[in-house]
Amino acid sequence: MILVTGGAGFIGANFVLDWLAVHDEPVITLDKLTYAGNVENLQTLQGDTRHTLVQGDIGDRDLVAKLLAQHQPRAVINFAAESHVDRSIHGPGDFIQTNIVGTFNLLEAVRGYWSGLPAEQKEAFRFLHVSTDEVYGSLTKDDPAFTESSHIEPNSPYSASKAASDHLVRAWHHTYGLPVLTTNCSNNYGPYHFPEKLIPLLIVNSLAGKPLPVYGDGQQIRDWLYVKDHCSAIRRVLEAGRLGEVYNVGGWNEKANIDIVHTVCALLDELRPRADGQPYKNQITYVTDRPGHDRRYAIDARKLESELGWKPAETFETGIRKTVQWYLDNPDWVSHVQSGAYRDWVQKQYA
Ligand code: NAD
Ligand code: TYD
Repeated sequence: MILVTGGAGFIGANFVLDWLAVHDEPVITLDKLTYAGNVENLQTLQGDTRHTLVQGDIGDRDLVAKLLAQHQPRAVINFAAESHVDRSIHGPGDFIQTNIVGTFNLLEAVRGYWSGLPAEQKEAFRFLHVSTDEVYGSLTKDDPAFTESSHIEPNSPYSASKAASDHLVRAWHHTYGLPVLTTNCSNNYGPYHFPEKLIPLLIVNSLAGKPLPVYGDGQQIRDWLYVKDHCSAIRRVLEAGRLGEVYNVGGWNEKANIDIVHTVCALLDELRPRADGQPYKNQITYVTDRPGHDRRYAIDARKLESELGWKPAETFETGIRKTVQWYLDNPDWVSHVQSGAYRDWVQKQYA
């Protein structure tokens, strides 16, 4: 079996669902169920004996040690993190605690378990750390895309805390021999994405007749990957990645934010036109820019493709259409995640 941390969040839940759709190997999900963790994301697994959800913190070394001893996983995949840049600006403390201290405690619990395994299991064991392209900092318009040897130059409390966790993972390999793999992925989008992030926020605000907030001039560039392609990349790296290596994951889909906004508006005009016949783009509102806002991210994913033969299955056009349709088809999920805590955040960030 495998242990997945943060498996009730956006990418983790997609990973667990996809894993159990293609494997029979059981999964233990360890998730603290913060505001971003949602048991509804895993609802379709209710009653599935291959899946167990444990509520807990990756920083709780005793709990993690107990779970490892009890279930004897052959791999740990670490998605658990505080993940939203804007929240890291308002309150960096949780990011330091989970992304750095939590990862440290997780690594120590895993090291204790791994070092006591019989030789064959010890050799087969893997710790896969899921990270982000944001650790590489910001590119100008003409810079080449980030490779695995780009400098680590994080600019936000979020990206700095993720960079720190990547360094810890690297050190646990070099110093203790822990068999680690790290993936650094570009911006994901798709089902179960919490509507604090750009794409789901645009969809839910459009449908609710609310403003579509564009930070600054809207010309910041992100490199978008459909979440299920990220999940297939992680499965491939887990299967065949070289120990201690870093793999960048991306779909060669650089888009300016304002173009994303127009694409989502146009899809909604087609799939769920406004009652008054007006286009959704009328709801676009330019707002104050994010402090320290990174201008451009772009991922060079050639290593993953040439070494491990991975390629994304979706183009941006197919992936964004599926995503918008998913939100239209899941109004209950959308209304449940917009709880009181969500409304408090929207008030704090956009008031
Ligand atoms: P998310 O915020 O949707 O989910 C994070 C999950 O981790 C939640 O279920 C939360 O409850 C859980 N969690 C938080 N603190 C925890 C703790 N201390 N112990 C156990 N569980 C805890 O995030 P996401 O977008 O699914 O991102 C998952 C991972 O992928 C993160 O490590 C993130 O840095 C990385 N990543 C995200 C993106 C993206 O575009 N979303 C891109 C590249 C990499
Ligand atoms: P986000 O989804 O928060 O991801 P990240 O900051 O990790 O890239 O934001 C994506 C881009 O969209 C980023 O450049 C910030 C911008 N953005 C807005 O313009 N308005 C918004 O309301 C949000 C949440 C993000």
